[in-house]
This record gives sequence, structure tokens and C-alpha cells, in this order.
Amino acid sequence: MDITTNKEELLAEFQDLAKLFGNHEISISHEEVDLDGKIINKFHVNGENEYETSYDYSKQLTPLAKKSLRKRQAKVALYDLLSKLTNKTLPWGSLTGVRPTKLARDLVESGQIKDFMVAQVLENTYRVSKEKSRLTAMILKNQKCIIRNDNLVDLYVNIPICPTRCLYCSFISNELAKVKDKVDTYIDCLLKEIEAVKKIVAKKAYIIRTIYIGGGTPSVLTAKQLDRLLDSLTFPVGEFTVECGRPDTITAEKLDVLKKHNVTRISVNPQTFCEATLKRIGRNHKNKEVLEGYSMALERGFKVNMDIIAGLPKEKLGIFKRTINTLIDLSPENITVHTLSVKNGALLKNDTSDLSENEVEKMVSYAEKLLLENGYKPYYMYRQKHQLGGLENVGYFRNDNVCIFNIDSMEETNSVIAVGAGAMSKRVFNGERRIERQDNVKFVEDYISRIDEMIEKKINFFS
Ligand SMILES: C[S@@+](CC[C@H](N)C(=O)[O-])C[C@H]1O[C@@H](n2cnc3c(N)ncnc32)[C@H](O)[C@@H]1O
Ligand code: SF4
Repeated sequence: MDITTNKEELLAEFQDLAKLFGNHEISISHEEVDLDGKIINKFHVNGENEYETSYDYSKQLTPLAKKSLRKRQAKVALYDLLSKLTNKTLPWGSLTGVRPTKLARDLVESGQIKDFMVAQVLENTYRVSKEKSRLTAMILKNQKCIIRNDNLVDLYVNIPICPTRCLYCSFISNELAKVKDKVDTYIDCLLKEIEAVKKIVAKKAYIIRTIYIGGGTPSVLTAKQLDRLLDSLTFPVGEFTVECGRPDTITAEKLDVLKKHNVTRISVNPQTFCEATLKRIGRNHKNKEVLEGYSMALERGFKVNMDIIAGLPKEKLGIFKRTINTLIDLSPENITVHTLSVKNGALLKNDTSDLSENEVEKMVSYAEKLLLENGYKPYYMYRQKHQLGGLENVGYFRNDNVCIFNIDSMEETNSVIAVGAGAMSKRVFNGERRIERQDNVKFVEDYISRIDEMIEKKINFFS
């Protein structure tokens, strides 16, 4: 068997892991020897530190199972070495490039472990901290709505337009001022793509489980534009979310339009309740606007999600605690706690140097503790590259109000038909545990000029 396959892929994962230890210059060489039943992993870090581990494997393993075992063992070995050299542990241990809940579910569903063993296995096998292993096990328990049925699909509509650009954001989104004269044509194209989706749904006998209009900031559209878009989304669903993330875009008229079209859930995102930080991150809203948007949403019976970010520039633990405490007082049905990730696409560069990783960890732990004490439960989680402290984003719910779309899409248990610029459709073949993806062009202008091609690709993809 060729044990050198995917060496580059493995080295890239080693580098990602090494970066989490805070050393970007680290050079790693790795050698693996297969002794027909036993594998020896040898590492050299910065040409000096040598480390060797070995393990036995069953010769009955399929090539895929063996590949995954080798990768896991090599990463754990490297983690142990770096942990020893730096005298540091990581919250998610050796895990990079994988959603912890997805990994845990795969282990349970494939019969390798029972669900009560999740926390213990993550801790012992992958070096995940006690706190994060427990969090993963809790989340798994709260994902009871998962139904692996290839005909049950979610619909996503992307509005990659925002009032202005927040400094920390790396999502591809256009400032409204730059595309204002194209928005109506963009909606025309969306309507055309949605008509094609209706044909796909009918032909494949799909059932649309949830609808999610995200972005960007869909509430940047005028009430009239929202009305036109929502008029076309006639699928009868129990969960229909529209992100109204930027409170400065919310008006009573727009919320009335959403209500008229049976939207059930919206986001009103404070990110922080410190107005000095809001200014610093280029988010021009005031706390008053969050409170007004929230109360207008409650008056109309919407379930509300609120997003916040731990680790925003110059925010210390005390400020973050005040944000969480305010959220608890407001008690929306969903709260999503993100950890700042500063990616290349963001305008914000190194404005976080005054913040120790330890402090961000304390913020995230404080949020978890307070939310749990106040009746919230975690229900979905994902990690991104460059998140401070190698931490994660976690969605919490109360009163059984999980967002099914978030679970389906993060856990990749159901297909997603996604329309609009930058939208990524996904076909999940549950029987074969296989996923295929298809993306639309990213920019609004390209999407408009290539709409027929997008539609054709979508029809082929789902045929
Ligand atoms: C795709 S954004 C859309 C939401 C909406 N446009 C808004 O800003 O309120 C979803 C969420 O991701 C989070 N987010 C965006 N950029 C982030 C970053 N660089 N690090 C951590 N979280 C981020 C924010 O909390 C944001 O509300
Ligand atoms: S954080 Fe939200 S509002 Fe800000 S630029 Fe990104 S997508 Fe737009």
C-alpha cells in the first residue's frame, strides 16, 4: 500500500494545527513507516525535536478507514509533541478541518461508539479538552430534529449586500451604495432561479423543509423588494428565517412584509452592546436600534436570534460580560456566540493584539455558563480558520426553538438548494455518505450577466 498518498494534504493539516500553538514559522517534517500491521510516525519539528510513536492497526480495515486512522494518529502524535514543546494545550486538541459534532455523529452512527461515550472518546482519542468534549456531547443530544432523508431539502437565498462593510467581516458582500442600481435586476434574476428551483422540486418530489434568506443583510432590501422576493417563495414550511442582522435596516414596514409572507424567525444582531466597539468595527448602529428592532419583532410574533462576537478589538472580559448579561435580560429564543476570526478578506488586521487568548477563552466559557444557567442549550457549532484561541461559534436555543436550517446545513445531513450570487448548493446522498457541491458565481454583476448559465448548472446538478 502506498503510504505517501495525500502527503501534501496532511502537511497542510499539520501546519494548521501548528498555527494554533501560536508559532507561524514552525517547520515540520514527517515520516511514516508501515510495517504491515504496525505504523510508526516520526516527526521533526524545526529540524531539532524528534518524536516517534507507533500503533497497531487491523489488517481488515478498508483503505478509507485506514487513511482516516493514519491521519488521526499522525495529528494526535504531532499535537502531543507540540503540546510538550510549548507547554500548552488547545481547547479542541488535535482537531482541525473537521466539525467536532459531525465527527462524533459519524462515530456514533457507524456503530464505533455509543452516544454516552462521545465526550470520553473526544477527550482520550483526540485530546479535546473536557469542557469542549462535554459541549460537543450536549450539542449532539440537542440535534434530535435531524432526519436523514434525501428528499427533505432546505432552501437558501443569498442576498450578498450590506449597508456598509464591517471591519472584521470576510464574507463576500457588496456595500449597498455600490450596487443600488442593480438590486431590482438582482431580484429579477433570483425570481428566475427560484422558478427553476420549483421545477426541480416538483420533478424530484423534494419536500422543502425550511427556507433561509441570509447574506449579507437581506433586510437592506426595501419593503417593496422584499415583498417581490417573498411572493415567489410559496413553499409551505414550518421554519422560515430572514436575517435582519443590521438593526439599522429594520423598519416596521419591512417586518410587516415578512409577517405577511409567513416568515417565522429573524436575526437582529447586536454583535456587542458596547457602542464604542461598534464604532471601532465600522458597524454604524446604536443599542437603541437593537432594542427597537427586537421589540417590533416580538410584537409581530417572530422568533429572534441574536449574534454576538467574543474577542472584538479592544473589548475586555468585563465589556463582553455586559453584552451577555444584556442578552440574558432580553432573552431572545436563539443566541449565537461567535469567536472573532480575522481572515485575509477582512479590513481589520491586527487590532486584536492587546487581547490574550486566555481572555477570549474566559469570555466564551462565561457565555456558556451563563446561558446554561438561564435555560439556554447549545444546538449547533462550527469552527473557522483563524479563530482566536482556536475556539468556535455556538448557537444556543431556549424553549425547544432550535433553527433546523442551521443544524441541517452545519451537520450536512440534508441537501440545500441555494440561489443567488455566492450561493453554494449541496446534494447529500445519505445512503452513500457522499456530498456534492455546486456554487454560483460570487459577485452580483456576474450573477446577473450569467443567470441562464447558473440556472442550467443548477438543473444539471440536481438532475
Ligand atoms: C454572515 S454574517 C451575517 C449577519 C448580518 N449580516 C450581520 O452582520 O448582522 C453572520 C454572523 O457571523 C458573525 N461573523 C461575521 N464575521 C465574523 C468574524 N470575522 N469573526 C467572527 N464572527 C463573524 C457575525 O456575528 C455575524 O452576525
Ligand atoms: S458582518 Fe454582516 S453586515 Fe457586516 S459586512 Fe459582514 S455580512 Fe455585512
